[in-house]
Amino acid sequence: MYTENDVQSVMLTTEQLAERVNALAEQISEDYKGEYPLFIAVLKGSFVFYSDLLRALSLPVQVDFMSVSSYGERAASSGRVKIMKDADADVRGRHVVVVEDIIDTGNTLYALKNLLLHRGAKSVKICALLDKASRRAADISADYVGFEIEDEFVIGYGLDYAERYRNLPFVGILKRSVYEK
Ligand code: IMP
Ligand code: MG
Repeated sequence: MYTENDVQSVMLTTEQLAERVNALAEQISEDYKGEYPLFIAVLKGSFVFYSDLLRALSLPVQVDFMSVSSYGERAASSGRVKIMKDADADVRGRHVVVVEDIIDTGNTLYALKNLLLHRGAKSVKICALLDKASRRAADISADYVGFEIEDEFVIGYGLDYAERYRNLPFVGILKRSVYEK
């Protein structure tokens, strides 16, 4: 495989990911029974997780996509977020579930959640595959978390380093030599 020299170790196998994603989908299906929630994928990193999660739900859902970036520290207090691609749907009165690959500082999701609430969403919940809880700066936590992980730089299953590795079928720890050279 092309990553042999770049991956330090596999953190989460394809099987572990599938099992956990299915469990999350079951829980979400239970929590939103009878509803028609709007699932917003935060691009690009969540695209693999999002498509696996949504296909495992036993609910009717509306799909939508956003691409955002936070303004770093300032976003945490101001709730401002830079929108590169906005959702098509009107969120007013809707139950929204934001699907993200990983929460690191939490600044991006903090700002995005506030924006969606400000636009009139009835509720906004966050579903993140990975959570680096020890890195949290913003006052936010995910409602659904796949795995809490240590502070390592991870790639695969949608996650990138310099836009590479997103198509790996597992989550791996990137070798330091790749980004320190
Ligand atoms: P934050 O929570 O606002 O700090 O930003 C989280 C975003 O940073 C994620 O959506 C990823 O795009 C990126 N990110 C954070 N940690 C990692 C990692 O270990 N691998 C790949 N991307 C990461
Ligand atoms: Mg991302």
